[in-house]
Amino acid sequence: MKQGIIIGASSGIGWELAVQLAAQGYQLGLMARRDGCLKKLADSLPGQHFVQVTDLVNAERAQADLTSLIEKMGDVELIVVNSGVGSMERLLDWEVERQMVDVNVRGFTAMSLTSMNHFVARGGGHLVGVSSVAAHLSGGISLTYNASKAYVSNYLEGMRSRALRSKLPITVTTVEPGFVETPMVQGRPPWMSSVEKATAQMVTAINKKKNHVFVTRRWRFVALLVDIMPRALIRRFV
Ligand SMILES: NC(=O)c1ccc[n+]([C@@H]2O[C@H](COP(=O)([O-])OP(=O)(O)OC[C@H]3O[C@@H](n4cnc5c(N)ncnc54)[C@H](OP(=O)(O)O)[C@@H]3O)[C@@H](O)[C@H]2O)c1
Repeated sequence: MKQGIIIGASSGIGWELAVQLAAQGYQLGLMARRDGCLKKLADSLPGQHFVQVTDLVNAERAQADLTSLIEKMGDVELIVVNSGVGSMERLLDWEVERQMVDVNVRGFTAMSLTSMNHFVARGGGHLVGVSSVAAHLSGGISLTYNASKAYVSNYLEGMRSRALRSKLPITVTTVEPGFVETPMVQGRPPWMSSVEKATAQMVTAINKKKNHVFVTRRWRFVALLVDIMPRALIRRFV
């Protein structure tokens, strides 16, 4: 039986990913802060699964939580670092921005490092990191969120070269979602995808061991456009 861990499984994309991977026969380790949500999810899935409460704000403690879950499960070959926070940044408020740095940057790095060290020791595996199309943006409306996701995408690119140099069968997949209907998104922004559709595309990319995927696929055009647009023009809109 294949074993995988989803960090940030208690709602939205992580929850749906658990549903779709369990349907493929995965035994899962489910991590996040909300114990009740994780237990409810585990109970609703076919098969037996593991729950591990963790808070990425305490990165060192979260590393210990992940290590203990890996040891408990036995032979984890897939780890998805999906936890993330995004807040409105109308004010330059350190309490709001610190949370994004703590979870999206420090927590993400700690989880990716522990995962990679596990795969090297195991002789192979698959690390999936959930970034965002926002990684391509640098707008003032959500400047810390955008910067944190640019960090995630860049970091995973670096991890991919480390994996190559290890000469081990280690895959690193970067997922860059556009708008997906989850508790994180307020209102109805354009091109909002259902969580089922976006996650299904993510699962296909995981199964095919892709390096990178936009979900949904149409967001690649937005990223491409943003990448070639002059910064001065972007500054006028975001
Ligand atoms: N929805 C979108 O449109 C969209 C677009 C681009 C990228 N993304 C990315 O997709 C990922 C999933 O987001 P979502 O849309 O599914 O939002 P969501 O429903 O709010 O899920 C966020 C997940 O992150 C976990 N999390 C938050 N803070 C945490 C912490 N301190 N420690 C551990 N886990 C924590 C949450 O669990 P607990 O609260 O239980 O801890 C939850 O499971 C995020 O990385 C987000 O940036 C989403």
